[in-house]
Amino acid sequence: MADEIVNVNEYQVLARQALPKMYYDFYAGGAEDEHTLKENVQAFQRIIFLPRVLVDVSNVALSTTILGYNISAPIMIAPTAMHKLAHPEGELATARAAAKSNTIMILSFSASCTVEEVAASCDAVRFFQLYVYKRRDIAVNLVQRAEKSGYKAIVLTADTPRLGRREADIKNKLIVPQLKNLEGLMSMEVVSDKGSNLEAYANETMDPSLCWRDIAWLKSITNLPILIKGILTREDATKAMEIGAAGIIVSNHGARQLDYTPATISVLEEVVQAVGGKVPVFLDGGVRRGTDIFKALALGAQAVLVGRPVVFGLAAKGEAGVKKVMQMLKDELELTMALAGCPSVKDINRSHVRTERQRL
Ligand code: FNR
Repeated sequence: MADEIVNVNEYQVLARQALPKMYYDFYAGGAEDEHTLKENVQAFQRIIFLPRVLVDVSNVALSTTILGYNISAPIMIAPTAMHKLAHPEGELATARAAAKSNTIMILSFSASCTVEEVAASCDAVRFFQLYVYKRRDIAVNLVQRAEKSGYKAIVLTADTPRLGRREADIKNKLIVPQLKNLEGLMSMEVVSDKGSNLEAYANETMDPSLCWRDIAWLKSITNLPILIKGILTREDATKAMEIGAAGIIVSNHGARQLDYTPATISVLEEVVQAVGGKVPVFLDGGVRRGTDIFKALALGAQAVLVGRPVVFGLAAKGEAGVKKVMQMLKDELELTMALAGCPSVKDINRSHVRTERQRL
């Protein structure tokens, strides 16, 4: 590859070179046949633009507001596990890059740095992603620590009652390292490295009985707004609204849970319609280009989250890599907006894209 990195996909190549195979596969892989993994990217490619010309685009403004927080562009950092497998500085490097990019970082429950360490390392707006384990005291402890250390929202990941079957991890015998946030909370037996693989670990700890009525419990332990991540249908979007979610994240967990779920971009519009503008809708899964971000916004998302490109940037170049990934996506979005005739994110609307369904 030539020296200059010109798009975020090239970071995947560098990450592959930089990481041990076991860790690269953990980051890159999806569930089973990886059908949804490919679809998440390819479904974006089937949406085309209907640009407007002769619009004054001498100034293109990317900034936007998420739950009242101003950020530089509608691009946030998705929660992804164990950044120290990618880079020795782990989530601290990611958080610093988030702050320098003036965006929001969603810290994973399964982080390799604690909520307090990440809070101390940067002044980016941070949300905290939560998995609910059978031991509910763990959620109480972490949510309260996150709230105390200045995180601004809880992102409840709802699509993981059990772990999806990631065959690369099974083949590689991926061992779960100590999850830093849980030190002292889990029995050492469960998190020890004596052979328990990720699947066994997750299935032993995750609470598969978690359901909609438990959101009332979650609300009772925090004053923070709760976003629900992992919504793919209008039915679940409606339920999320009924229980008072402050936002919805259309996500299939980067195609790592149930294979053959639809590409997120293909269901975004119906979720947005069900929500009817009452709360913000976000999307993640397969966002690799500024054009993808524009398409998600045109179909009603308020912002996107980016998972793998951030981890690949981190693996290849640490904090600088994450910053560059965010900058490249912003630059591409800015150019897309100029070429489509949209001087601000508010100008992007449904009339700027044509989906596959419209072409049939
Ligand atoms: C994830 N994702 C995830 N989600 C979550 O809620 N908690 C987590 O700890 C993780 N961990 C995680 C690890 C890795 C390696 C990946 C790739 C993904 C899912 C993540 O938040 C997001 O939904 C997807 O990554 C979005 O898809 P892209 O951008 O990776 O295609």
